[in-house]
This record gives sequence, C-alpha cells and structure tokens, in this order.
Amino acid sequence: MSRTVYVNGKYVAEEDASISIFDRGFLFADGVYEVTSVVEGKLLDNVGHLARLRRSLAELGIASPATDEEIVEIQKQLIVRNGLQEGGIYLQVTRGTADRDFAFSANMQPSMVLFTQARNQRNAPQATTGISVISVPDIRWRRRDIKTVGLLAQSLAKQQALDAGANDAWMVEDGFVTEGSSNNAFIVDTHGTIVTRHLGNEILHGITRAAVLSLVESEGIKLEERPFTLEEAYAATEAFATSASTFVWPVVKIDDHVIGDGVPGPVAVKLREIYIETALARA
Ligand code: PDD
Repeated sequence: MSRTVYVNGKYVAEEDASISIFDRGFLFADGVYEVTSVVEGKLLDNVGHLARLRRSLAELGIASPATDEEIVEIQKQLIVRNGLQEGGIYLQVTRGTADRDFAFSANMQPSMVLFTQARNQRNAPQATTGISVISVPDIRWRRRDIKTVGLLAQSLAKQQALDAGANDAWMVEDGFVTEGSSNNAFIVDTHGTIVTRHLGNEILHGITRAAVLSLVESEGIKLEERPFTLEEAYAATEAFATSASTFVWPVVKIDDHVIGDGVPGPVAVKLREIYIETALARA
C-alpha cells in the first residue's frame, strides 16, 4: 500500500514524491537526518532527536526548514495519515538545490522530507535471540557526531556483516571499538561494569544511548565511558547495542567469540525492558 509522505511543504503519495537531481543531498550527501521510533502511535524520545537535528544543522550551517512545533505536527500527521502504530519516522533535511558546485551560498532554501516505516519494534526477534556482529575498520570521516546522510561506510559495513552471515558490524579504529554501523556499542565486563565509548567526534551521540545511560545510573549499575578494545569485548560477559530503530539489542557473538552464554544477558534484557517502559511513559 502506498504511503503518504511529506516533501517540502506537501503531503503526497510516495510514488508522486520527488526531489531535484540538483539537490545537494543527492550530489554531495550534504544533509542530515533523524529517525524517531513510534510505539502505540507515539513518538519516542522525539525531543532529543529534534535537539540533535538542530545541532547537526548548526554544525553544517544548513538553514532550519521548520520549527520543532511544525516538525512535530508533520510527524503526527504522517502517523495518522498512514495509521502507523509501530515503526519509525525518517526525517531528512538537505542544504537544498543549486547547480553542482562544491561551494554553496549562505542563503539556500533547505529541502525537508519525512516518511514513515512500519516495523516491529517491541517484539523484534533479535531482542530475544540476540545478534551477532563482525568487526570492521572504521573508515568514516572525522565528524561522526553529526548525523549526516553520508552513510556509505556504514552501509558497506552492514552489508559485509550480512554477507559474512552476521547481523551487524562494529567499527574499530586505532584498536578501539567506535560504534555499530547504526547503533552505539556497549559491553559488560566481568565486574558487572558497563563500558561504552565516551562522547566525542568519533561517534554519534545516540539519543537512545543517553536515555539508557540515565537508566544505568538509576539502576545503580557501574558505568565507564571510555574506549574499549575488541579483546575486552570478546571477554565481556554481555554486549549490546542501542538505537532508535532497535532500542536495546543484545549482542551474543562478536567475530568468532561467543559472548557470555551466547544468549541475551540479564543487563541487556533489563535495560531494554525499562527503556521501552520509561520512553513510552514520557512520550
Ligand atoms: N542510526 N550510531 C550510529 C552510527 C547511528 O547511525 C545511530 C542511529 C546510532 C544510535 O543513535 P540513536 O539512539 O539516536 O538512534 C548510533 C539510525 C537509527 C539510522 O541510521 O537508522
């Protein structure tokens, strides 16, 4: 069934939606995006996603296409028009359209596109089976804190993982895990301490990561925000990944190493459960 999508001020059927071939998002990956999950027709952690959108736009000097209130109204319209109960809303803003030139003018009119994707979020099978990941070199640019649509390195990493019979890739730089192809990476060490990379330009500042870390604190679980090596990950009692489209997914295998008992561990299972509960309660 055809979805209703939003393109630059209009709600249209997906087959009628179009963007110029001169859009800088198409020519230069000159754009940013956000994915907000939807459960029971409600937007989860949308305040955080919109705040990060503002930050990404500001870092690249892309003009704001709409106020937060206007964006929320579009998101809600799309949820209603598409009868979306569970899944996600994708939002993309590009610098806009101009004849191809590396340089750009300061007063371009940004393009904005939003669409819904129905998806089983709460009862995703990966939550009960856990996922396997392979490690790959992190070949991305150095501003991974900006959520740009320049996702080719992550896309290749993910496909490499699938081709190898795994579910996802964890990227490694200078011997340390940065993050997953589209999620933040965590391990639990033998002392029960959660370790996840600290924020910086090397990783995306995950909205789900932030929400989960506040739960880690309220649950009284020890936390270290620092880089960790693959060897530490292989020796971990648990591992997991967080993102808006997966919430918390246990990682049960990294390369050839089975993590813990090879099944989702108690910390990941608990954090997933309370993340969904608390995110829904504030939605
Ligand atoms: N990806 N790291 C990377 C590289 C990501 O692409 C994402 C999200 C995250 C997690 O961020 P958040 O918790 O705010 O979703 C971390 C989205 C879901 C995507 O590209 O579809």
